[in-house]
Order: sequence, then structure tokens, then C-alpha cells
Amino acid sequence: MSLVALLLVHLLLQSSISCSASASVSKIETRLIQETCKHTDYYNLCVASLESDPRSLNADVKELAIILVELLQANANETLWHVGDLFKKVSDPALYRFYGTCIEEYRAIVERQIPEAIDALQSGDYMVSKKDAEAAAAHADSCEEQFAGETQPFSDQNKAVHGLSLVTSSILGILG
Ligand SMILES: *[C@@H]1O[C@H](CO)[C@@H](O)[C@H](O)[C@H]1NC(C)=O
Repeated sequence: MSLVALLLVHLLLQSSISCSASASVSKIETRLIQETCKHTDYYNLCVASLESDPRSLNADVKELAIILVELLQANANETLWHVGDLFKKVSDPALYRFYGTCIEEYRAIVERQIPEAIDALQSGDYMVSKKDAEAAAAHADSCEEQFAGETQPFSDQNKAVHGLSLVTSSILGILG
């Protein structure tokens, strides 16, 4: 199962098994995750993403931001490769165009925005890093918008990348 799918499943299960899901993680250890995620518009996605990485337990806010940017990169790259596979098999001309544009948008995220965000974050330039995360969200939006009124075959992955970009941008906003 892909990371994105795991995250989505985690989100769906979270409400029903909120006690057992993180039973091994003490309240004190997750408090910073929860407090930090309250500053975002996607609280559940934020908590689930951070809890999927054991490094989050001992991380400060900057380290949480780094973990999120890395998760974003992994998700975006996975989506890019998935769209690449779809692109190879498509015959419908409109879909061919849509997928082609999505590949360009995702290449911008994976090859430009995220590497720049990581560099900026590591050197403490949080505003640049935040702008890159916002740009990543806009690229995911541009991909999605093309499919207006039609089935978007990787919409869940695209929405996860969009949401993670905005979560990351909000947390970078706390730092900067
Ligand atoms: C993206 O995924 C591919 C295939 O799994 C991998 O070879 C490549 O190194 C990844 N690129 C980045 C930037 O993570």
C-alpha cells in the first residue's frame, strides 16, 4: 500500500480508534505534534503524517517541519511516478493533455519547490521555504483543476499532496 493510501486509511480509522491508534505513544510526547498541528487547516492529516514518522516524537517544531517537507517530497514523487504510468497508457487526447500538464506540475514540485524548501529550511530562511510549500500546493491545484467535471483518477493522492503542502506552509509560518 502506498504511503498516501496508508495516510488516508489512517485518517478514516482515526476517529473510530482514536484511543488505540497511538496507544504506545504517551500524551506528553505527542503534545507538541498536536499543538503544532492546531496551527494548520488540516489537523488530522498533520497529526497522522507526523505520527507516521517515529522521529516526530523527539522533534522540535523545526524538525517537525523538516519531516513534513520530506513526507511531502515522498508523496509528490510517488504521485509523479503514478501519473507517469497513467500517461504511458492513455489514449484519450484530453486525458493525455491533462496528465502531461500534471507531470509538469509535479516535476516542478519534486525537482524545484521541495529541494529549494529543504535548503531554505535548513539555513533558517523560513519565508522562502513557506513560499515554496505554497507554490507546491498551487501546482497540485493546477493539476486537479484541469479535470473539472470529470473523474480525476488520482484525486486522493493529489489532494493529499495539496493538503500536506498547506500543512507544511502553516508550520513554516510558525517558525518564520
Ligand atoms: C522518486 O521515486 C523514484 C522511483 O521510486 C526514485 O528513483 C527517485 O529517486 C525519487 N526521487 C526523489 C526526488 O525522491
